[in-house]
Amino acid sequence: MLKIVVLVSGGGTNLQAVIDGVKNRTITNTEIAGVISNNKNAYALERAAKNQIPCCCVSPRDFSSREAFNDRLLKAVDMYTPDLIVLAGFLVVIPPVMIEKYRNRMINIHPSLIPSFCGKGYYGLKVHEAALARGVRVAGATVHFVDEGTDTGPIILQKAVDVEQGDTPECLQRRVMEQAEWKILPQAIDLIANGKVTVTDGKTVIAK
Ligand code: GRF
Repeated sequence: MLKIVVLVSGGGTNLQAVIDGVKNRTITNTEIAGVISNNKNAYALERAAKNQIPCCCVSPRDFSSREAFNDRLLKAVDMYTPDLIVLAGFLVVIPPVMIEKYRNRMINIHPSLIPSFCGKGYYGLKVHEAALARGVRVAGATVHFVDEGTDTGPIILQKAVDVEQGDTPECLQRRVMEQAEWKILPQAIDLIANGKVTVTDGKTVIAK
């Protein structure tokens, strides 16, 4: 059984896709051990509570230094003894010690086809604003392992989504979530839970 901890900051629709996936068995062999939010008002925490998933808030605002926050965040994660950390819209910079400790055991969902529209400053609606400003015809999402860079880790899954005439950043964001993020995040977890993902030379290999 793959024990996962999901880190969130906001609405938690990706968390919901994972909860639903475990329930309807599109994600197999997986248990959501806990949810951690950096924001005590995140609706994601309510989604966890409604589903009887242990959850807590670890906010940088409650600590006098970044080091103290980082330390507490890692402790909160470790308490669940997870096999995999899932960053589902988590907007906090991951402490380097946590990246090292959970190398190839921490994944992130990013709302673009990496390497387009990713890296520092590309988060939330900004990604979709940049995609529309560039006039791309195809958008999408990527699930990747987390390394020291921003959105640079080994890519696990990607899914393309058509941009439509007249799209606003908001409606493109919604379509990318519905058609890509909520599908490939559960899929990636299921693949990992079933031992199908390995990393070699900085790239993933997915077993059939
Ligand atoms: C998603 O677009 C995700 O790709 C991005 O942040 C958003 C989180 O949405 N990193 P939600 O909290 O899962 O609804």
